[in-house]
Amino acid sequence: MSSRLTPLPAPRLASPVLTAAQRERFAREGYLVLEDFVPGAACDALRARALELVSGFDPETHRSIFTTDDQTRTTDDYFLDSGDKIHFFFEEGAFDARGQLRQPKERSINKIGHALHDREPVFDRFSRTPELERLVFDVGLEDPRLVQSMVIFKQPRIGGEVRCHQDSTFLHTQPESMLGLWFALEDAHLGNGCLWALPGGHLGGLRSRFVRGPDRTTRFEALPASEGPPWRDEDLVPLEVKKGAVILLDGRLPHMSHANVSEQSRHAYTLHVVGGGADYPNTNWLRRAPDFPARGFR
Ligand code: FE2
Repeated sequence: MSSRLTPLPAPRLASPVLTAAQRERFAREGYLVLEDFVPGAACDALRARALELVSGFDPETHRSIFTTDDQTRTTDDYFLDSGDKIHFFFEEGAFDARGQLRQPKERSINKIGHALHDREPVFDRFSRTPELERLVFDVGLEDPRLVQSMVIFKQPRIGGEVRCHQDSTFLHTQPESMLGLWFALEDAHLGNGCLWALPGGHLGGLRSRFVRGPDRTTRFEALPASEGPPWRDEDLVPLEVKKGAVILLDGRLPHMSHANVSEQSRHAYTLHVVGGGADYPNTNWLRRAPDFPARGFR
């Protein structure tokens, strides 16, 4: 990221979308739930386009599986090259012992990522609204750059658990600046694997970084904050939200979701934003072609 030479433009929305009390709550708890932020029709359009993309994907070409498990995280070339593309990742339970999909591919994909917002017009429009620009402005992130987007399907019956983690582990800047926006494209509740968060857990600092080496290897690097007390399940709170809600997540907030063992999907869209004035080290796994840099909200 380059430092700016000209003053930042004012957001298109003149009025704040957050109250002072909401900004304070976000600073204190590390997350903020905003119901009814996105119109239902926009959620439907995003889901429909995501399903079209999946139907156009040939599962025989790439069989990359996504997991946040430390030992088994897939770090193949298809994953490492997805930072500025649209790639498809399967659920761990998608294939049987003979390598055949257990159910149709539309019910087998874990997620699509990671540059939907730059490669697909429907996602571009969804990700760059004046309301969203203002929301990010209101929490004080300067010169925001949209670096990563994902559709997360949390498929019925096989949608895997996502263990407790901090998003900044997977996207680090100096100084830390990462902000997550998690959009419910469908209702997310206890039954279909909603998010769980550790209120105030971001104040304990970032515990690890997922580091990419020069030879396309990856590893987790522990940080001093990892000496802190363990994240306890009993301290997590469920974030049940309706379709159209957005959840703001501090990059250091510990959060997770349980497996989806229900018959309902739990589609979500996430957008990760960093400050353009912060340094983006090349130890980040997510890279973009030099001629395709991350843009802001316009
Ligand atoms: Fe996350």
